Amino acid sequence: MTMMSNTATAVHFYDQQPPVASMSLRDELLQGLRSTPKTASPKFFYDLRGSELFDQICVQPEYYPTRTEEAILRDAADDIANVVGRDATLIELGSGASRKVRLLLEAVRPTRYLGIDISRDFLLDSTRRLAADYPWLEVHAACADFSRRMTMPEGMACDHPVAFFPGSSIGNFTPQEAESFLQGLHSLLPAGSGLLVGVDLVKDNTIINAAYNDVAGVTAAFNLNLLERLRSEFEADLDPKRFSHLAFYNEAQSRIEMHLVSDIIQEIEVAGEVFRFEAGETLHTENSYKYTIEGFQALAGRAGFQARAEWVDDAALFSVHYLER
Ligand code: AVJ
Repeated sequence: MTMMSNTATAVHFYDQQPPVASMSLRDELLQGLRSTPKTASPKFFYDLRGSELFDQICVQPEYYPTRTEEAILRDAADDIANVVGRDATLIELGSGASRKVRLLLEAVRPTRYLGIDISRDFLLDSTRRLAADYPWLEVHAACADFSRRMTMPEGMACDHPVAFFPGSSIGNFTPQEAESFLQGLHSLLPAGSGLLVGVDLVKDNTIINAAYNDVAGVTAAFNLNLLERLRSEFEADLDPKRFSHLAFYNEAQSRIEMHLVSDIIQEIEVAGEVFRFEAGETLHTENSYKYTIEGFQALAGRAGFQARAEWVDDAALFSVHYLER
């Protein structure tokens, strides 16, 4: 692990990615392609282009989660500040553009902020802007895959840690994985630590389906960009035009499923390995689970986090929870 203090931008940067460039990421990718049905973890979406496309998804009229969560955070900022308390270390998991935390900073006034993200360039760019806009805030950035075992950056002070996990990213895990993930946070954080987490709610299916099938086609582009990334970073030989975007709500499992559907029988090559697709066969690229308030709090409880407060918009589209370890 290396640490660089960049005084020009005042962001303390920690590179926690494995030194062998994405070697294990590649193994993970190939393993998913070899399995039946074929899968790819949604983290493969987030190269620079993917992160940009995700930001565009967030402003599509059909995509309610971002807008709704931001309104909740804005309206509840003072309440949130009260339960969080003073002088926190805010740790954002998958910080992306570090946009949502801005809604809380003035009210919560944490001592320091640590942004953790897998997309290095995006992370550096956004935390630099955050440091410039909030000169009183100590800003840290760690390039890491938070879905794997996490460690605190060496040398960083961390009083009253409060993990911030907005956007319903926790919905990318299966409920079982979400529980183990929270158990992992539980062992990483001292007693009394907080977890501020955004969770998308179960609701009318048509609203959910529309959110992942925006008319402008941004979600489709985001899904298909995974194939471009296979070509640019994983020596793939394939034609993205031979695949289509598919997203639907699976009611039995309370989850959105995103897939890339092969339009024809074809063989593609990834990192020297050949993969055959039947016509209509899919590569399953994402699950996005939806919860009830009670269902989510019960899950968190099993991982050792107690529900302290929750905030929901008037239409009950989205929820933000404060849990205490
Ligand atoms: C970042 C996982 C919360 O599931 O809504 C948005 C990702 N995928 N549109 C979600 C996503 C397609 C998003 N999360």
